Amino acid sequence: MGTGDQERELLQLISEGFIFVDPDFRVLEINAEGLRMARRPRSDFIGRILWDVAPHLRTSALEAIFVKAMRDRQPVSIEHFYTWTDGRQSWLEIRGHRTAGGLAIFYRDISQQKKSAEELARAQAELMHGSRVSAMGTMAATLSHELAQPLTAAGNYIETCRKLLRPIADERAREARRALDQAGGSIRRAIDILERLRAFVSKGRTKAETNDLRAIIADAGVLVLPLAQREGVEIRFHLDDKAHWVRADAVQIQQVLINLIRNAIEAMRDSARKRIAIATSPASGNMVEVSVEDSGPGLGDAAPETVFAPFHSSKPGGLGVGLSISRTIVEAHGGTIVAENSPKGGAVFRFTLPAGRKPD
Ligand SMILES: Nc1ncnc2c1ncn2[C@@H]1O[C@H](COP(=O)(O)OP(=O)(O)O)[C@@H](O)[C@H]1O
Ligand SMILES: [Mg+2]
Repeated sequence: MGTGDQERELLQLISEGFIFVDPDFRVLEINAEGLRMARRPRSDFIGRILWDVAPHLRTSALEAIFVKAMRDRQPVSIEHFYTWTDGRQSWLEIRGHRTAGGLAIFYRDISQQKKSAEELARAQAELMHGSRVSAMGTMAATLSHELAQPLTAAGNYIETCRKLLRPIADERAREARRALDQAGGSIRRAIDILERLRAFVSKGRTKAETNDLRAIIADAGVLVLPLAQREGVEIRFHLDDKAHWVRADAVQIQQVLINLIRNAIEAMRDSARKRIAIATSPASGNMVEVSVEDSGPGLGDAAPETVFAPFHSSKPGGLGVGLSISRTIVEAHGGTIVAENSPKGGAVFRFTLPAGRKPD
């Protein structure tokens, strides 16, 4: 590759930027497009060492890549977010080809393509989140509408029973009143959950406060305990002292835990060993991780991710919204939730929450 007039003319026909350097990286040639992209005159380049002309090559990984291409005689092709000498930045597609006399470097501005690809990905993510939220929104609105009435009626019946029992002073009546108190509490709680769910899905907002993660887990554990006992499932807790405080809406995170624990119990229905391990640990980025692992059959051969799809259920009569809602809740907190198969055979669900600071 020389610098004769004819070759130089041919190089101008290449629509990409083109630089040719000798084995010492001295610039022998650069074409008009290459100069136009760099916004610099030809005299800046010819006869000078590439790193001196374009210092940003040295501070980026590009120098090492070019040196390797020259030495190993291997073609290279990379996309790189490049800072020009005048401070502009562009996404470049850069290719290097080793030739007998040195290295031919082609470069092309792909900022526009990169931008459209990013915008597309963002639009798709928003669309997916949007459709999930609106499916959830419809579901939540329908559920709270349909359930509010029977729940309120049940609350009224409980109140009536308590009134009827009030004049009766024997021990069994007192026990019955205590049970009715608990039933009333459960109903208020159900109404509260529906209310919060509806408010959350419509506004997409959570009431994140500094909360004791161990208390949240203990409360969720108490609520599923009757079911766990009935099904012969043992729940073990491994709670890390360094993962004590979180920034979270306690009721919503309890819902996530209850969903995960219930799924685990349901999955282990036919398992010989029925055990759930709930563990906490500090995670990177000032987060806290909670994992729920079971000794059930695991998630099968399909990609674990599919269990989060709305209305995906393998259960007869299953709604398939538990995990979808759980993901929406965790993501609204700024966390993530993933499903995995445990090496021991069961399923593991892990989610993260922002760590909180211990209150004074
Ligand atoms: N611990 C688990 N072990 C095995 N499969 C699970 C587990 N948790 C969830 N799944 C799968 O994910 C599906 C979706 O769960 P979910 O969204 O809670 O809906 P539902 O419980 O109504 O089916 C379940 O039907 C089941 O196939
Ligand atoms: Mg479920």
